[in-house]
Amino acid sequence: MDERLAERIRQLKEEKDAVILAHYYVDGEVQEIADYVGDSYYLSKLATKVKEQVILFCGVSFMGESAKILNPGKKVVMADACADCPMAHMVTPERIAEVRSEYEDVAVVCYVNSTAEIKAVSDVCVTSSNAIRVVKRLAQKHIFFVPDENLGRYVASQVPDKHFIFNDGFCHVHKSIEAEAVKEAKRLHPDAPVLTHPECTTDVLEISDFIGSTSEIIDYATKDDRTEYIICTEMGVFFELMQKNPGKRFYTVGHRQFCPNMKLITIDKVVEALEKLEPEMVLAEDVREKAFAPLQKMLELAE
Ligand code: 13P
Ligand code: SF4
Repeated sequence: MDERLAERIRQLKEEKDAVILAHYYVDGEVQEIADYVGDSYYLSKLATKVKEQVILFCGVSFMGESAKILNPGKKVVMADACADCPMAHMVTPERIAEVRSEYEDVAVVCYVNSTAEIKAVSDVCVTSSNAIRVVKRLAQKHIFFVPDENLGRYVASQVPDKHFIFNDGFCHVHKSIEAEAVKEAKRLHPDAPVLTHPECTTDVLEISDFIGSTSEIIDYATKDDRTEYIICTEMGVFFELMQKNPGKRFYTVGHRQFCPNMKLITIDKVVEALEKLEPEMVLAEDVREKAFAPLQKMLELAE
């Protein structure tokens, strides 16, 4: 990292009273200049605790939206306004209304990878690291899990006493990790356990040794005694995996573990966003208010 650029970022953060939050899927050089890097749950919890008046988000839109929903008084700036998660748009309020009319005792459980409009018509949000815990604590018998079908199916397998209704949303990055390719990686590296994100398809989860969020995968590999691992999630996690475990080896499965939206974020865009304090995340106040309750409920139930 260019020391002058790092110094410029430090100056701008002080001048603008800004803090930089980044997800593990952004490039390593962006993770390096962030004040906090984490999984979606950590970042949404943290957004409620930072003291700075400006939050600069290095991640996709739904992450910045969540920060704004939870902190209406703060200015949330996105490093790139075009960085958006396609899965966040894979369910509609109309479909949610339809399921609500079919089931009386239903909870709409909304993966945080969703738009503010979808959160606004949901009962509770979840992330990949707290979904099982949160769903277990819900009183309703029926669970409409949106938008991700794969995470929904994984949670359903761990909470068998609930009845799940699934939605056909997916993450194209995790869906592209195929079971055959994982088997081939296992053949090449027989001593390496397979660590997998629950957005992967069921057949990949079935041949995995550990399933967890990005930070859970990093923690697992860091605490584990073995020295090599097959990683089934977006390649951005390799930066922290290697920082924390310089003596260990990490293998991808194929060559498509790449989220083009997360990779839109560059250091130059971070500097520009800090200078101009834009693009700002702006939400209609009625949507923000309605989306607050399910996010707040997640933070309570996940504790
Ligand atoms: P987590 O960091 O919660 O595991 O989320 C993964 C993801 O897809 C974020 O876009
Ligand atoms: Fe969305 Fe998948 Fe990219 Fe995460 S990795 S932002 S779920 S497309």
